[in-house]
Amino acid sequence: MEKRSTFQGKLGFVLAAAGSAVGLGNLWRFPYLAAKYGGGMFLLVYIVLAITFGFVLMVTEIAIGRKTQLSPMKAFGALNKKWGWLGKIATLVPVLIFPYYCLIGGWVTKYTFVMATGKVAEAAQDSYFGGYISNTTDPLIWFLIFILATTLVIVFGVNRGIEKLSRILMPALVLITVGLSIYVITRPGAGAGVKYYLLPNIKDLSIKTFLAALGQLFYSMSLAMGIMITYGSYFSKEEHIEKATRQIEIFDTAIAFLAGLMIIPSVFVFSGGDSAALGKGPSLMFVTLPKVFNSLPGGGIIGALFFFLVLFAAITSSVSIMEAIVSGLIDSFKMGRGKATAIVAVYGIVLGIVCSLGFGIWDGVTIFGFSILDFLDFVSNSVLLPLVGMLTCVMVGFVIKPDAIISEVELNGPFTMKKFYVAMVKWVAPIFIFAILVSSVLEGLGVLKF
Ligand code: TRP
Repeated sequence: MEKRSTFQGKLGFVLAAAGSAVGLGNLWRFPYLAAKYGGGMFLLVYIVLAITFGFVLMVTEIAIGRKTQLSPMKAFGALNKKWGWLGKIATLVPVLIFPYYCLIGGWVTKYTFVMATGKVAEAAQDSYFGGYISNTTDPLIWFLIFILATTLVIVFGVNRGIEKLSRILMPALVLITVGLSIYVITRPGAGAGVKYYLLPNIKDLSIKTFLAALGQLFYSMSLAMGIMITYGSYFSKEEHIEKATRQIEIFDTAIAFLAGLMIIPSVFVFSGGDSAALGKGPSLMFVTLPKVFNSLPGGGIIGALFFFLVLFAAITSSVSIMEAIVSGLIDSFKMGRGKATAIVAVYGIVLGIVCSLGFGIWDGVTIFGFSILDFLDFVSNSVLLPLVGMLTCVMVGFVIKPDAIISEVELNGPFTMKKFYVAMVKWVAPIFIFAILVSSVLEGLGVLKF
């Protein structure tokens, strides 16, 4: 068997893993969920979950990857023959995410173009975004551009180059986000938004806040979908898993936090900050940010630069999502690389088109009250991710036993949070996730009312 190459040094690993983790999840999804599900309360719940469940699951996945040196499809089966299916379910998540991730990547591409061609004022109008996504052909063209770009990166194997470039562009993205946040929070009227985002209010606490925060945590850190197992399999045996986990978590959360600090107060400054404006969902970033850029001198250029950097973060993620599916196909069906890539591209295009039309000619089609995109997002992030996360904990806690993970972590020094890890992985995490899942299903069915 071919020896797996390892990342050079810990920083290389942390940057690569963080580079894949930082994407639309941080910039687009986190702010709209935080705006919708309770602002400061969502932020608080998210941070608590990140340092508890997020930490435990990330350590577990990186350790499984490094220990088995296998892809997620095979890693679970190698740890215990009866648990191979868990790796397959985990790989299903990228399959569900990929089409709509590329659709949103297409929206970002469109907005880069719109800003660059000086149509900021137009884009800042309330009806602009709704008009755009309900159009039949225009969003499809941008979606195709995005998904084909992703496919080409994979076909020509230029991932490395893209990753190198992202080491320059990612800090640029952070800088511009910090700059925009400062601009927004110093506008008149921003205070109420900053308060809403930073101060938890107990009346905003609900089961939905927990479920949304939990799904978002896994999504944003690419957990419970096999990705961190893959990264772990490339992680050098010399480095400390616990420390690397901390760094990735801090980095990923910091970027999400900043994106919220930029977007949520803008909703108050430019759109009144009522619950309708806050509850916009997936369109929030595209409705709000153009208003910010429109109010800035030279806003078109800043907007174009900003969306371009977001586009870059989105491409690095979409490439690694696609790569996960392609290698999953190769691993399970012994398929050639070219064929697997073609299948995934065609699949992504077809389902992405369906999602896009779900905002236009098919907007009457709803599944349990969700639009098509929201439904895929819900099934993958609010159902499958918690489920896989919970089952991973059960498997580690009771089948392969926490010691299997602990010994891998301790290869390079003490595991400071060992006791905490064991208690979390065996009891707290599985029971808590189970309770959240059951209560939200019951709520969804109308049996329980929160
Ligand atoms: N975590 C990524 C983000 O925040 C999204 C993502 C989901 C992802 N699944 C992935 C990235 C798989 C890479 C690989 O946008």
